[in-house]
Amino acid sequence: MKRTSRRVLHVCSEIFPYLKTGGLADVTAALPAALARMGCEIRMLVPGFPALLDSVPERHLVAEFSPRFGAHAIRLFYGILPQTEMPAYFIDAPGLYDRPGNPYVDIYGQPYRDNHRRFALLGWMAARLADGFDFFWQPQVVHGHDWHAGLAFAYIRALEWTRGKQLVGTLFTIHNMAYQGNFPGHFFGELDLPVACFQPDGIEFYGQVSFLKSGLFYANKVTTVSPSYAREIRWGEQACGLGGIAQRRGSDLVGILNGIDTGIWNPAKDEHIEKPYDARAITGKQQCRLALQEEMGLSPQRTAPIFCVVSRFAAQKGLHLLIESMETLLAQGGQVVIIGSGDHYLERTFQECAYRHPQQVAVRIGYDEGLAHRVIAGSDVILVPSRYEPCGLTQFYGLRYGTVPLVHRVGGLADSVADCAPDNTAGKTATGFCFDDFNASSFTHALQRAFDLFRQPAHWRQLQRQGMKHPSGWKPSARMYRALYDEVIARLCNKMP
Ligand code: ADP
Ligand code: GLC
Repeated sequence: MKRTSRRVLHVCSEIFPYLKTGGLADVTAALPAALARMGCEIRMLVPGFPALLDSVPERHLVAEFSPRFGAHAIRLFYGILPQTEMPAYFIDAPGLYDRPGNPYVDIYGQPYRDNHRRFALLGWMAARLADGFDFFWQPQVVHGHDWHAGLAFAYIRALEWTRGKQLVGTLFTIHNMAYQGNFPGHFFGELDLPVACFQPDGIEFYGQVSFLKSGLFYANKVTTVSPSYAREIRWGEQACGLGGIAQRRGSDLVGILNGIDTGIWNPAKDEHIEKPYDARAITGKQQCRLALQEEMGLSPQRTAPIFCVVSRFAAQKGLHLLIESMETLLAQGGQVVIIGSGDHYLERTFQECAYRHPQQVAVRIGYDEGLAHRVIAGSDVILVPSRYEPCGLTQFYGLRYGTVPLVHRVGGLADSVADCAPDNTAGKTATGFCFDDFNASSFTHALQRAFDLFRQPAHWRQLQRQGMKHPSGWKPSARMYRALYDEVIARLCNKMP
């Protein structure tokens, strides 16, 4: 079948570099761009958060809407996001989106009380566009990301019931099953959906309204961000109560491993770092290492590894394992550089640790893109001991920068890091250190293996080089998404789904 283009609307709440709270933003910047390079016709739909709206130099009014979802004025604008030249629709509803705080929580870290309405509007608007509301462009596929976009799929399905035919192909990507967008059931009346949607075969979840379940249940295809995580969310803890539905989706639920933006994360061209380097000429990394020690006030030692963490401080990330293993690590002369923010207990504990060991531990609380690059370039090992990890991106950055990842073997971490067990060091396929049991002793054992190998420079160099060769661009994964688009477009028919 010859197809010249695929018109795909990506629906999401954050996009790097304009607005980012986590890896989602990296993906919603890089994946659509990769798909566009492959000939797909991509547009984005985002809430008009000032950080997004203000990034567009020129915007055109597409439509105005009467008040709904608690917003008095709603306008849909169209413009081009300059960084990636990506066309985008922005929902300008200042009453809902123009607020201090981040997209989801206020300045005190509390979720906004009207989040159900704020993100219902996002989904509702996606359904209007799917219905051909913009005379000049109608998507063939709506691709939503995470619970924020989840309700789009219920609105689309409800419209299809009214029209008596399928409007678009739909695809929902789950970046994290634990963030579900669940709200009290009595909010359902505010969502402007048919009652038929509020049932177990729909968006009802133990009496609540679940935005994530809406996507999981109604989208034609569901993806998650690594093959292992796609298996893990069908049963047990990682299913977060939705395992039954995940199982029912059968082969319509697939895992596609994330890539990274190799233009932004490239040690040979990185303007944030002291000295560029690559796998062939890795000596520049030594200079980055020294510069990092100096910037962070650490002693300039060369005999033990520098371990780093670049992360949200959330329970998911397993950072208490580092706290429990810290004394052992420091006793061997290792150094630790941590950049991140979140959980106050972790922030305080890491800061206290830096205060007690100023030559060995450095902590920066906050978000700093440039520093993240310098930390990763200057360290020897990047720690990602997550309890669970749908994909994870920092281990890829580590691989690319010759900063050996040490990870808990789950989700995307299991799919991207090959353990340096004695046998596959010899086989030269190893790229990092993995541990299986989620406890401090297993983590410490992996740290020990890192210390031991670091003392053997030739082996260490081999491990670094192997990791740096690891393909981490978006192309192969974007191809898989494109194949799914083709599948849902091919399935499009005039009948009801
Ligand atoms: P998650 O999305 O669960 O937070 P990921 O590993 O997928 O985890 O993505 C995290 C992203 O956020 C990465 O791009 C990482 O570099 C970035 N990041 C996390 N913390 C910081 C920080 N303090 N400063 C700069 N970048 C950060
Ligand atoms: C989520 C996940 C993370 C993943 C990211 C991008 O934030 O926690 O593992 O890498 O989304 O898909």
